[in-house]
Amino acid sequence: MEEYATTHAPAGSGSGMALTDYAHTQNEIWRLYEMAKRNQWNANTDINWDEPCPMSDIETKLLRGILATYQIGEKVGIDAPARIMTQLPKEDLAAREFLATQCFEEARHCHAYRMRLRKMGLDPDTVRSGNSAWVKAISGCYAYEHPVQSVMSLNILGELLAASQFTAHYDALCESGKDPVTRTILQRQLQDEGRHVAFGITWLRERLKTHPEDTALARDVAKEWTPIYVDAMTHKADALKIFGIDKLASIEKALGTFQETLASMGISDPVI
Ligand SMILES: [Fe+2]
Ligand SMILES: [Fe+2]
Repeated sequence: MEEYATTHAPAGSGSGMALTDYAHTQNEIWRLYEMAKRNQWNANTDINWDEPCPMSDIETKLLRGILATYQIGEKVGIDAPARIMTQLPKEDLAAREFLATQCFEEARHCHAYRMRLRKMGLDPDTVRSGNSAWVKAISGCYAYEHPVQSVMSLNILGELLAASQFTAHYDALCESGKDPVTRTILQRQLQDEGRHVAFGITWLRERLKTHPEDTALARDVAKEWTPIYVDAMTHKADALKIFGIDKLASIEKALGTFQETLASMGISDPVI
């Protein structure tokens, strides 16, 4: 629970109104919330949109598909955390405030990828991803009414597995030196996605500790949706080698991390 500091009035305000200060609390979710406030960035000014990104026709075509797929996920990210807020107990203010930061951050990611598509001369409203498995996978973020199921679906499955794919793309671009604009977006974005995953793990682990009867709910969501995510992540695995992205290795690593994360919450059955 946060504490309200009475000693942090704005200097010179003279109003006597206290600012809310969560920073000195021990609660991990408030800490993530504070981190989110500190680490905001602006897609308009923090990306050098003029950096040259020479690409072959096939690379351009592939990148168009990748960015269109990213955009779909980021759009879901804007309102899926807001749904979870409505499912949480009203007294869980830390989680609801953190999820508010997540909505805004996903809006920024969506905006950045739309700008990247426009920079390529494309209309973000008309590009199509072709990865129908991905569309199916992320529909799971809207499928549940219980916060345990929704946090598993969005913040663990969606965020953790998607972040592994963003990381594979980022690592490949660091290695090749290609497409510095997308690389910078990914670098900034991954800092945000890391917090979203951390929130999911922290919140769900604590919830299952205090409500062990919810463990089966979380486990069943993981079992149902993991194979669908794997199907989505393997889309165009061979073609993406052109960017140096090793999809299969990144998926194997992500599944290992995912299974370890579940085990830390008391879910030890294999999910795939
Ligand atoms: Fe995102
Ligand atoms: Fe995210």
